[in-house]
Amino acid sequence: MGDPRLLEKSKPVAQFDTPELHALIQDLEDTMKAMNGAGIAAPQIAVNQRVVIFGGFKSPRYPDADEVPYTVLINPVLEPLADDMEDGWEGCLSVPGMRGVVPRYTRLRYRGFDQYGKPIDRTVSGFHARVVQHECDHLDGILYPMRIRDLRDFGFADVLFPGQQLEDE
Ligand code: NI
Repeated sequence: MGDPRLLEKSKPVAQFDTPELHALIQDLEDTMKAMNGAGIAAPQIAVNQRVVIFGGFKSPRYPDADEVPYTVLINPVLEPLADDMEDGWEGCLSVPGMRGVVPRYTRLRYRGFDQYGKPIDRTVSGFHARVVQHECDHLDGILYPMRIRDLRDFGFADVLFPGQQLEDE
């Protein structure tokens, strides 16, 4: 946080199944795994393209997390399916050591493409919906602290959740 590239609106991917795109996804996957992340967006490794990856992990903190399949999502379009929003704690690989309460839509449809250009169209809720919203925000230059409604719900992870290993997005 503080790097101006995280505040930019990223550009759509124009060509699928290219060596450059596959290399970018490998970099994202390596970074997410190395940092114990739940998801990561290309701008977080200084690439301003509309590419996110998430899921494919188990977490004691999120009982539903193993229902989120490993997903490469490119040029995503999000469509909330209800006005309902739910508060939940989030962290971010670009805001290390912090956690904050962020409102997110509880149910949404998302569409996009994988790295081969195959369409993705899913309707999701709960943690899956939260992760997608967090990652796709990165593509529009939005970091989760910008969405915290009450800054009293923002703090250091080791103070808020002592002794817990937490994933970041
Ligand atoms: Ni993040």
